[in-house]
Amino acid sequence: MRDETSYRTIAPYYDWIMAHVDYDMWGRYLSRAWKKLGLEPASILELGAGTCPFARRDIFPPSARVIYSDLSPFMLSRAPTLSPDARVAANALALPFKGPFDLCLMIYDALNYLMDEEDVARCLREIKRVLAPGGLFLFDVTTEANSRKHFHQAVDYGELEGCTYFRESHFDREARVQGNDFIFFVEGPEGVFRKHKESHQQRIYKIDAIKTMARKAGFKVEGVFEGFTFRPGKETSERVHFALRKPAK
Ligand SMILES: C[S@@+](CC[C@H](N)C(=O)[O-])C[C@H]1O[C@@H](n2cnc3c(N)ncnc32)[C@H](O)[C@@H]1O
Repeated sequence: MRDETSYRTIAPYYDWIMAHVDYDMWGRYLSRAWKKLGLEPASILELGAGTCPFARRDIFPPSARVIYSDLSPFMLSRAPTLSPDARVAANALALPFKGPFDLCLMIYDALNYLMDEEDVARCLREIKRVLAPGGLFLFDVTTEANSRKHFHQAVDYGELEGCTYFRESHFDREARVQGNDFIFFVEGPEGVFRKHKESHQQRIYKIDAIKTMARKAGFKVEGVFEGFTFRPGKETSERVHFALRKPAK
């Protein structure tokens, strides 16, 4: 995704469409990961935070200062109880923060929206810049195995309050691009439905390519984990979590 116009129509429906995602479990997993790696974060930056599901849960240490950021102001607007200082629309490729943050997160495929290695490298440099020495960057990626198993020539639909949507997913194996095309029929005044389209594209990176980019950006790769475990992540895993550390010196 290259501008703030994606993740626009979907924003009011995103939490419903993702109702199957267990963010409590995800948050517990992440907190186990940072504790295991010796961190008790006092300052946290979440990138690609979307509708900020972790802001509605007790995931972070109660005294931690947390900033939620996303490219899409429409997604962030779904977390209206956060103060403007805690909810900042920004591109992860050019962060308007100085830091330092002890912990940076980018969860649920958000990194896959960076469509080429140059952008991933830029994002990693930005995160390293705003992290404190010794700080951690925890993120996950969706894999080719996940695309092939669940998101190739797949159609899904849902009926929500005032909206029916269809999602058509396709994986281009050669280009390593996962596409998800949405059509929303949104009920307007007098019961008239309007059609809106929104397309999302994600690049599916190999694990080794991400490790190489991380090292090049000056990170230490502390872990590459399968799904929500601490077993080694493999190309056959459907989701892989990475833990990168900015060296202390
Ligand atoms: C699949 S959603 C995940 C949202 C949230 N992390 C969650 O767990 O529900 C991916 C998010 O990444 C954001 N995103 C995509 N490209 C971005 C970029 N370059 N900078 C910041 N956020 C980006 C999108 O706007 C979207 O909200």
